[in-house]
Amino acid sequence: MRSTCSVFCGISIDGFIARPDGALDFLEGDGTAEMGDHGYEAFMAGIDALVMGRRTFEVVMGFDAWPYAKKVIVLSSTAVDLSPALDRGGDVELLNATPEEVVAQLAARGFRNLYIDGGATVQRFLRAGFIDRLIVTHVPVLIGQGVRLFGALDRDIPMKLVASRSLPGGLVQSEYVRRRTA
Ligand SMILES: NC(=O)c1ccc[n+]([C@@H]2O[C@H](COP(=O)([O-])OP(=O)(O)OC[C@H]3O[C@@H](n4cnc5c(N)ncnc54)[C@H](OP(=O)(O)O)[C@@H]3O)[C@@H](O)[C@H]2O)c1
Repeated sequence: MRSTCSVFCGISIDGFIARPDGALDFLEGDGTAEMGDHGYEAFMAGIDALVMGRRTFEVVMGFDAWPYAKKVIVLSSTAVDLSPALDRGGDVELLNATPEEVVAQLAARGFRNLYIDGGATVQRFLRAGFIDRLIVTHVPVLIGQGVRLFGALDRDIPMKLVASRSLPGGLVQSEYVRRRTA
């Protein structure tokens, strides 16, 4: 069975997933409605493990509580201290590996449906050809600068739109799957 790597994130109209300092305040919508979960719980129900970049992990550590009930793999080339997450009940591991190695190692342990999180991390997985599904929720604001979800590619990645949803607060969620020829 093939592994599946998915992305689920909120993004400004101009393509940013965080402000330069990592702030996520702009993801709140236009203030006209209560924000729902945008399908996050349903998405998470199909996920075996999260794979996040070290910088996303650092932002998550600023949250009030550890938010994940699933295995979390933190990617870094450095010795990140995971103890604050472990102390909060997180099932967290550190890995320094290429996307190919991450997917293979996790598949061998039975984790095949992966949620890839963090701008630079998603870009690495995209370049390595491992992203199968993108669920991006556009928030109705431009912020001008920040952390980009997408970056340079050495070839096009054809995607197919499978759903487009209009959500409360002026949000538009687009779900794409990778168009593979073979
Ligand atoms: N809007 C949203 O839905 C959303 C979702 C997720 C994240 N975010 C935001 O995005 C920001 C973080 O994104 P980011 O692009 O700055 O960074 P990131 O992708 O979270 O982390 C990048 C770091 O991950 C490590 N890394 C990634 N791939 C690796 C690999 N294959 N092997 C070893 N290490 C690897 C490296 O850490 P080292 O430098 O330690 O080696 C790299 O510097 C945060 O502000 C977060 O809140 C927003």
